[in-house]
Amino acid sequence: MVRKLPENRITVALPKGRLFEQTISIFNKCGILSEEISPESRKLVLQTENFNFLLVRAKDVPAYVEYGVADIGVAGDDVLLETDPDVYRPVDLKIGACTIMVAGLPEDRERYFSNPTSLKISTKYPRIAKEFFGQKGIKVQIIELYGSIELAPLVGLSDFIVDIVETGRTLRENGLIVIEEIRPSTAKLIVNRASYKTKSSKIMDIIEKLENYLETR
Ligand code: PRP
Repeated sequence: MVRKLPENRITVALPKGRLFEQTISIFNKCGILSEEISPESRKLVLQTENFNFLLVRAKDVPAYVEYGVADIGVAGDDVLLETDPDVYRPVDLKIGACTIMVAGLPEDRERYFSNPTSLKISTKYPRIAKEFFGQKGIKVQIIELYGSIELAPLVGLSDFIVDIVETGRTLRENGLIVIEEIRPSTAKLIVNRASYKTKSSKIMDIIEKLENYLETR
């Protein structure tokens, strides 16, 4: 059981899933991390010489960093916009590039652009969706889902979805199309505000190594 993590190490909240491997790869390439780390085990805390890694759901990364359990973390703009944490965001890691989109069935496209007064939207991103449609003056009923969002318009749970699109494969294979782009998203390094001061030399070293690597890439 790990209750208290060794404090001489930097604790990193790492997103499981699509960003995991890209994050480890960039940490290896810029010389921050010398060990190989794999998410295959069920372990949620992995320790290396210099780091404690916490393997958490992408959407939970900001909470671990904001509340200081982790000193740093990696989170996409999608998650940061949705959770709006009080953290520093010093480096755009330029990984995990995707676009936050409104998507739906081709036959519903016309309806979307004919000034609807209200829409039913399924999404993992209720806050982003509310703000986007709020600015357009469209009233939305948000149905919050936690995965397989593309299913919702296929079975009539909602009119459209707000979700991230990376390769477009999930939309294509389910006969859906992009209706409107909301904004692009890439992953950011995020840093706890207190750690930024108390562990400044270690954190500055990480930031510099990442920046140097990203400049020469
Ligand atoms: C994300 C997103 C889309 C899909 C887009 O889901 O919610 O469903 O990836 O990727 P693509 O454009 O490359 O097909 P994720 O894989 O995180 O799984 P989830 O359904 O469990 O949320």
